[in-house]
Amino acid sequence: MSSASTISVYPARSLEGLVRIPGDKSISHRYAMLAAIAEGTSRFQNFSAAQDCYSTLGCVRALGSDWTKKKDGAIEVRGIGSNLKAPTQPLDCGNSGSTIRMLSGILAGQPFTSELFGDESLSRRPMARIMKPLAAMGARIESREGGRPPLKIHGGPLRAIQYKPEVASAQVKTCVLFAGLFADGDTLVEEPIRTRDHGEVALRAFGAQVERSGNAARICGGQKLHAIEAHVPGDLSSAAFFLCAAALFPGSQLSLPGILMNPTRARLLDILMQMGLKITVGQLEQHHGELIGTIQAQGGSWKGGTISGADTAALIDEIPVLAATASYSENGLEVRDAKELRVKESDRIASVATNLRKMGAEVQERPDGLRIPGGQRLHGAELDSFGDHRIAMAFAIVALRAEGQTRIQGADAAGVSYPAFFEDLMSIVN
Ligand code: S3P
Repeated sequence: MSSASTISVYPARSLEGLVRIPGDKSISHRYAMLAAIAEGTSRFQNFSAAQDCYSTLGCVRALGSDWTKKKDGAIEVRGIGSNLKAPTQPLDCGNSGSTIRMLSGILAGQPFTSELFGDESLSRRPMARIMKPLAAMGARIESREGGRPPLKIHGGPLRAIQYKPEVASAQVKTCVLFAGLFADGDTLVEEPIRTRDHGEVALRAFGAQVERSGNAARICGGQKLHAIEAHVPGDLSSAAFFLCAAALFPGSQLSLPGILMNPTRARLLDILMQMGLKITVGQLEQHHGELIGTIQAQGGSWKGGTISGADTAALIDEIPVLAATASYSENGLEVRDAKELRVKESDRIASVATNLRKMGAEVQERPDGLRIPGGQRLHGAELDSFGDHRIAMAFAIVALRAEGQTRIQGADAAGVSYPAFFEDLMSIVN
C-alpha cells in the first residue's frame, strides 16, 4: 500500500494481530459540544482522531470555547456555560453531517445569528429534517434551496415541543434534545425506530436529566451542565472494517481492546456472528454510561444474510463494508429499507454497486437497498472513494481477497473518520 491519495491494495494471505481503534466519532462530537456549554474544563482521553470531530472542535472554538491537545493526547475543552459568543465568521463543518445537524440544536437557542457551511458533499445533504423541528421551537433558519447547507440560524428563546421525526436519525434526535436544553419546559422526541442513544447518555454524563420511555426521550429546559473527565471508547463502526476483514480469512485472529459496546450500536456483532464470524467479548466496563469491551474475533465460514427494518437503522454506517465483502460469502447479502444510504457522504448504494461492478461482481441495486449474490470471485480494479471515508475503507477490505492489485482514488477520505486506517490495516495483514 502507498500513503498518497491513491492507494494500492494487494491481496493478503492471512490476517492476525491487535488494533487499538481510535475513540468513537459519535461520542466525541457530543462530548465536545456539551463540554463547550458546560461549566468547567472537560478532559477526554482517546478523543476521536477523525477530521469530522476536529470540525466540531473548530466550531466550538469559534464560539468561544477554547480547547487544547495535551502531551498525553488528551483533549481539554474549556466550557463557557451559557456564554457562547457570536462567531465572527461562518462555521466550517467540513464533511461532517453530525457537526452541522447537532450543533444547530445548540445554536438555535443562542441570542445571536450564526452561519454553518461545509464541503461539496455536505452541501448536498438534507437539512430539512432539523430545520423543521427547530422552526417549530421558534428558531428562524435559512438554507439554500431544498433545505441544503449553508444554514443561517437566527437563534433565540425556544419553546418546548413534542416531536416525532419521520426519519430514524440519531443526529435529528440529538439536535432536538440539545435545543431542548434551551427551551421553556419539557421537549420530547419520539423516534419511529430506536437509534443510537449517545446523545441521551452524554447529556446524563454532563449532569442533565433525560428520561426515556420506549422510543421516546424527554429533556427539561434550563438545566446546567458540569464538566467531565472521560475516556472515549473505541469506535465500533471503525472496528467493523477489521471485523469484516477477519471474516474473509479462515483462521484469522484479531484482538480489538476497549471497543464501544453500547447496545444501540452492538447489533453489528450479532449480525457478524450470524454470518459466521466467531466473536467473544471480555473485560466489560462502563464509563459515563457507555459500555466498553475487548473483542476477539476469528474467521471461519462466512455465510451472508439479510439486513432490514430496525437492523438497517442500527447498522447504517457498517452496511457499505458488510455489503461489499458479502460478495465473498456463501449466500450473499440482501439489504432493505436503506434509502438513507443514498443521502450519506456519498450515495452509498450507488458507490458500493459501482465499485463492486468494476471488480467484476454481480450486484442488484434497488431504490432502498442492494442484493449482493455470494460465492463471487473479484478482481482488482481502479476504484473511486467518491470522497466518502467509509467507501474508501470498505473497498480496501474487499481488495484484500481480490485477484491482483486494486487502486483506490481519493483514499485519503478515510481521514474523515479514521486517519490511521491504512497503517493499522497494514499492521495486521500478511
Ligand atoms: C450519527 C448518526 C447516523 C450515522 C452518522 C453518525 C450520530 O446518522 O450515520 O455517521 O452520531 O448520531 P443519522 O442520524 O443521519 O442516521
